[in-house]
Amino acid sequence: MKLIKDIKALQSISDYFRATVRTIGFVPTMGYLHDGHISLLQKARMDSEIVVASIFVNPTQFSPTEDFNEYPRDFLRDYHICRNYGVDYIFYPDTKSIYPDDFLTEVYVKDISDRLEGTFRPRHFIGVTTVVAKLINIVKPHFVYLGQKDAQQAIIIKKMCEDLNIDIEIKICPTVREKTGLALSSRNTYLNDDEKTEASILYEALNEGKKMILDYKVVDTESIKKYVSNYISRKSKNIKLQYFAITDNYLMNEIENLKNYKGEVVLSLAAYLGKTRLIDNILFNYNN
Ligand code: PAJ
Repeated sequence: MKLIKDIKALQSISDYFRATVRTIGFVPTMGYLHDGHISLLQKARMDSEIVVASIFVNPTQFSPTEDFNEYPRDFLRDYHICRNYGVDYIFYPDTKSIYPDDFLTEVYVKDISDRLEGTFRPRHFIGVTTVVAKLINIVKPHFVYLGQKDAQQAIIIKKMCEDLNIDIEIKICPTVREKTGLALSSRNTYLNDDEKTEASILYEALNEGKKMILDYKVVDTESIKKYVSNYISRKSKNIKLQYFAITDNYLMNEIENLKNYKGEVVLSLAAYLGKTRLIDNILFNYNN
C-alpha cells in the first residue's frame, strides 16, 4: 500500500491505471475506521483492480458549533486497517492542499441538501458535495462506495453525479451494526457503554415504524411518526429525538400517506443522546 498526500501525484497514478484499463474503486472517509468503513473497503476490493481510500476530516462540512476539533483521529491505526484490507493507495491530504487560501468554489445540490439533516446542519451538505466532487476529480474512480448509514448523503452525492454528468457508478452498501442494532459510527466513541446500550433504542424505534407500516398496514404517516416518537420517549429519558421522517429513496421527499405509494421507503431519524448526535435509517420495499 502506498501513502499519497500530493494531489497531482495521485491524479497521475489514476491516469496511468485508467490508460492501462484497470478499474479504480474509491472509498472516501474521514478516518477513525470501523467495521462499517471496512465493509466498503471489502466491497471495493472485490469489485475493482485498484482500491483507493481517502482519509480527510473535512472542515467545511462541520459548522462552527460542531465537533470538528473533537472528531476522533488516529491515522496510524487507519493506515494499518487499510493495509490489512488490501487498499492499494491511501490518500491523506493536508487541509491546505484541499482548500488553498484562494479556494472559491462550492457544489450545492439544491432542495434535498436543505431538508432533514440539512434543516439541523445548514451548509453541511455543501461541504460534503464540494469535497466529494474534488476527491472524485483527484482519484478519478470508476466506482465510489458509500454507506446506507448516511442515506441522505448517499442520495445527494448520487444526484450531484447525475446532474454534473460525473461518469462514475455509486455503490451504496448496507449499514453495519453492533449486535444490539446500534449503527457503527466514528462518533460512537463519544458514548460510554450504558449510552451505547441506550442508543440501540433508535434502531428498535425504526423497526417499530417499519412494523406499523408492513405488518399493521398503517398508511397515515403522521400517526406512525407520533408512535415512533412516543416509543423513543417511553423507552429512554436521555434520548432527544430531533426528527423522524418517512420518505422515498429517490430525493427523500416526505410521504404523507402510503395509500397511493409504491416503492422504496426510508425511515430516518436524528437524535441527541447527551451531547452526541446520532443518525440512523432503515430502507425497505413497500408494495401495499
Ligand atoms: P465517514 O463518516 O468517515 O464515512 C465514510 C463512509 O462510510 C460513508 O459513505 C458512510 O456512509 C460509511 N459508513 C459510516 N458508518 C457506516 C456503517 N455503520 N455501515 C456502513 N457504512 C458506513 O461520510 C463521511 O465520512 C464524509 O461525509 C465523506 C463522504 C468522507 C466526505 O467528507
